[in-house]
Amino acid sequence: MGITGRRDQEIYDLVGIGFGPSNLSLAIALEEHGAIAPQQPVRSHFFERQSTFGWHRNMLLPSTTMQISFLKDLATFRNPMSRFSFVSYLHAQNRLVQFVNNQDFFPTRQEFHQYLEWAATAFRDRVTYGTEVTSIRPVADGSGTPELLEIEVRTGDGATSTVTARNVVVSTGLVPRLPEGVTADDRVWHSSEFLGRFREQDPADLRSVAVVGAGQSAAEITRFLYDSLPHAEVSAVIPSYGYSVADDTPFANQVFDPGAVDEYYFGTEQGRDAFWRYHRNTNYSVVDADVIRALYQRVYDEQVRGVQRLHFRNLTRVSEVKRVENETQVTLRSVLDERTEELAVDALVFASGYDGLDPAHLLGDFDRHFLRDATGRHRVERDYRLVPSSGLACGVYLQGGTEHTHGLSSALLSNIAVRSGEIADSIVLRRAERELGRSRPLEEASSVA
Ligand code: FDA
Repeated sequence: MGITGRRDQEIYDLVGIGFGPSNLSLAIALEEHGAIAPQQPVRSHFFERQSTFGWHRNMLLPSTTMQISFLKDLATFRNPMSRFSFVSYLHAQNRLVQFVNNQDFFPTRQEFHQYLEWAATAFRDRVTYGTEVTSIRPVADGSGTPELLEIEVRTGDGATSTVTARNVVVSTGLVPRLPEGVTADDRVWHSSEFLGRFREQDPADLRSVAVVGAGQSAAEITRFLYDSLPHAEVSAVIPSYGYSVADDTPFANQVFDPGAVDEYYFGTEQGRDAFWRYHRNTNYSVVDADVIRALYQRVYDEQVRGVQRLHFRNLTRVSEVKRVENETQVTLRSVLDERTEELAVDALVFASGYDGLDPAHLLGDFDRHFLRDATGRHRVERDYRLVPSSGLACGVYLQGGTEHTHGLSSALLSNIAVRSGEIADSIVLRRAERELGRSRPLEEASSVA
């Protein structure tokens, strides 16, 4: 359903901005709330910029696997009986038995994507695709504690429209980051656009390629390019001395447990800092052991064969990127002795990471109404609501962008089922309190009468 038909007709309890896994998980939590309390459904709608559902499509490389167990799906940790669990999906595909025979906790990303698409299909009537939310502002009602928010949305053809809601849940995801001074073009890509860009090329034209970065995406792309371009020289430019392993052993993995959110949230500032420093190697600038081994195996095979087209440039950074006709010239600088070297490539991929979600650009002027901590980061309630500086009856919730308050799982899938349930509960509870607040004077009046 298009948005124009809805405009000004309905006040939603919740508008979700972005429909990736986080808000899909929220839609499921709301659906299941509706099943328990059908007389009080939460009126919700979601807006998604992409024209169809898609989860990091440009990184759905063959054989890449999930970095979480299949049980950390959209619903199971909140409701193991959910019909939207990964197990339920497998059952619907007639593949549950084979999945179990395969004895692997970590499905491929392609399979997990199919699962997410399958779940998203059930919410087609609650999502407007191809629509970008451009701003959120309070509806002035003269009360000083606005109850409603106006959300501006823009469709692909540039038309704008507004919808009204009591709460928004911002879940717009990570923002691709390129190093300063680097501009993307048809031969210089960020990993987030990798497959789309790669498919635009004639593979025969890619004789020399380089991948910059030390994390999971960098390693996966290096392996993919090496395997897909048997004629090409492939360089991996790594600021450290080779890839480091992602710690996913059981004790370390506890940092992603739902219970860890409380410990992090209610800890001291120093405690949170220490937590972060000790455990960032569970997720940042690290690579799964099987990908590291697969790449090392290729290096070793080359040594056995006496050839070399996979080049690891360790302790090296990119200091300049220049376009010279069809070629891209990269200046590499050694971290050890600052020596530089020129490399000509047909394609250069920056797996240089992402910035976290920041709602400020959507809030614009409205952002002034929310408190920030001493280092300028948004303050966030335990229920993921931004803390307003004065009474706001409406709510702005975040799914993502809360690593400083809720910990390492904020930008990941690990905790989305539980987090979405907590947000749904908060919205339902606050609605009940508001309705109670409204009805109390009447009840009191009638009891006096
Ligand atoms: P996500 O980014 O998925 O979705 C946000 C959506 O909002 C997008 O669809 C976007 O189009 C939309 N949007 C943005 N701005 C908008 C606007 N203004 N209006 C409307 N729509 C808008 N984590 C993990 O736990 N296990 C894993 O295995 C992986 N694997 C992984 C692989 C790769 C390649 C990446 C880049 C990341 C991961 N992650 C991960 C981490 C990743 O953040 C996580 O998997 C989810 O994408 C988080 O889901 P969200 O819905 O929060 O964001």
